[in-house]
Amino acid sequence: MSSVPARVRLEPWTDDDFPLLVRLNAPEMTDHLGGPETPEQLAMRHKRYVGAAQSGIFRDSDREYAAYIFKAILEPENVEVGGVNFWDREWNGETVYEMGWGVLPEFQGRGIASAAVGEAVELARATNRRSAIHAFPSVDNGPSNSICRKAGFELRGEVLFEYPKDHWMQCNEWVLRFAS
Ligand SMILES: CC(C)(COP(=O)(O)OP(=O)(O)OC[C@H]1O[C@@H](n2cnc3c(N)ncnc32)[C@H](O)[C@@H]1OP(=O)(O)O)[C@@H](O)C(=O)NCCC(=O)NCCS
Repeated sequence: MSSVPARVRLEPWTDDDFPLLVRLNAPEMTDHLGGPETPEQLAMRHKRYVGAAQSGIFRDSDREYAAYIFKAILEPENVEVGGVNFWDREWNGETVYEMGWGVLPEFQGRGIASAAVGEAVELARATNRRSAIHAFPSVDNGPSNSICRKAGFELRGEVLFEYPKDHWMQCNEWVLRFAS
């Protein structure tokens, strides 16, 4: 990785961002996430992302929850390189944020995800709505586990985690608790 930290800007997801979502759905991008979604699933996800970026509410098939959906733009090149999202989730009787991220293959290994997650953590903190962020990378997802550690998340241990629906993975549970 370059010794110069990557600079990344986060912007709310828009209707123009479908091509980015298609690239983020590549087989090598979804290895740890249950594999690529179908074109129909992807179109629906895009619609929900745009809706959430506009209204703050992600409208799933069976429930609605607050969600913050961003594309990541590399600076100074001004190129879209990935995405990072956080959303409300119930976990052990508490409503917390869960965070997820992705960086396109040709931009990986340059510290971009680490920078994007750092920015997103600050945005999540600034909402003042939740006291913690959780992340659940697969135990095999070396880069994502490293990102959590560097961003200040604390490792709680392994959990069997369902993502997407009906796909169970052995994951690490990472928690970043905001100082109160
Ligand atoms: C996980 C992902 C976002 C990492 O993006 P990235 O921009 O390459 O990450 P960074 O460059 O910030 O690197 C993060 C760490 O992973 C390490 N890393 C990067 N690519 C790696 C690879 N292919 N194998 C092992 N480690 C790797 C880096 O060295 C860095 O660790 P370090 O800081 O301790 O050196 C990217 O691989 C991705 O989008 N994967 C598919 C989607 C996904 O798995 N999302 C996570 C769901 S929780």
